Amino acid sequence: MTDAREIRREIVDRYGARARAALGDAGVTATASDACCAPGAEAPAGPARLEFVDCSTGAAPAAADSAACCGADDAACGVTADFETAYGSANYADTDAIPVAALAASAGCGNPIAIAELRPGERVLDLGSGGGIDCFFAAKQVGESGEVWGLDMTPDMIQLARHNAEQVDAKNVRFRLGEIEDIPFADGAFDVIISNCVINLSTDKPQVFREAFRVLAPGGRLRVSDMVWTREPPAGQSAAEWAACVAGALRVDDYLDAIRAVGFVDVDAQYAETASGLTSASVFARRP
Ligand SMILES: C[S@@+](CC[C@H](N)C(=O)[O-])C[C@H]1O[C@@H](n2cnc3c(N)ncnc32)[C@H](O)[C@@H]1O
Repeated sequence: MTDAREIRREIVDRYGARARAALGDAGVTATASDACCAPGAEAPAGPARLEFVDCSTGAAPAAADSAACCGADDAACGVTADFETAYGSANYADTDAIPVAALAASAGCGNPIAIAELRPGERVLDLGSGGGIDCFFAAKQVGESGEVWGLDMTPDMIQLARHNAEQVDAKNVRFRLGEIEDIPFADGAFDVIISNCVINLSTDKPQVFREAFRVLAPGGRLRVSDMVWTREPPAGQSAAEWAACVAGALRVDDYLDAIRAVGFVDVDAQYAETASGLTSASVFARRP
């Protein structure tokens, strides 16, 4: 079993590389240079064994064997794809007002905004906000009387998201570096928590759900898109497969039980069965 620290490092490397690529395309010099595609860098050891989508690629690559941690053209980094789920910005309509680099970095597996039923004035937290795509959609819906926070543990993603916020002069959106297992906000601070293809990456999902419950106000909503299995996941877990949103995904029943266990009610999931058994689910829950 791969250990939690190694998985975390793999996640930060992988999504940091994605953020730096988007920042580079936007003409911004990013902070770090340890991407797995940096000159001379070795690809992660994980073999390309599982034929599932790599969520870190964001948009669906053109060919089934072309997904990798650094972009559609780099097959060196591991997990291959079979596109049973729409990824990244393909999940959204009407993206005109969304910063280009937020669309480019988008690495979600669904559209939590479509199920969040956001209202003007609400306070929203996005767990694992990446380049900020869902935060920008949320900010439009909650308006100036509301506020949106994005939380992410990858420093380059926070830098990218802040850059994106400046591009659109979004005054009701802020981004904070931190971990979803230890959310740096007060009890009851939010009306709605959203998240897109992130909780599967955590090595301590019960703690994520405890923290989500704590920072939601009574009556608050949890609205999540995430990868789940509808059958027993295959054995064998490399850090690369975990960071690609494959190996860390839970069986859907276990996922929902973990949410109920911390006190959420009205817990439900909507998803389509796939041939592989790995699918994207829309998950609903409410703090009583
Ligand atoms: C697959 S990407 C999704 C990003 C974004 N939600 C989107 O839809 O584009 C996963 C993101 O979650 C962040 N992440 C993963 N595990 C995390 C954790 N334990 N705490 C905070 N952020 C985490 C990563 O840094 C990365 O930016």
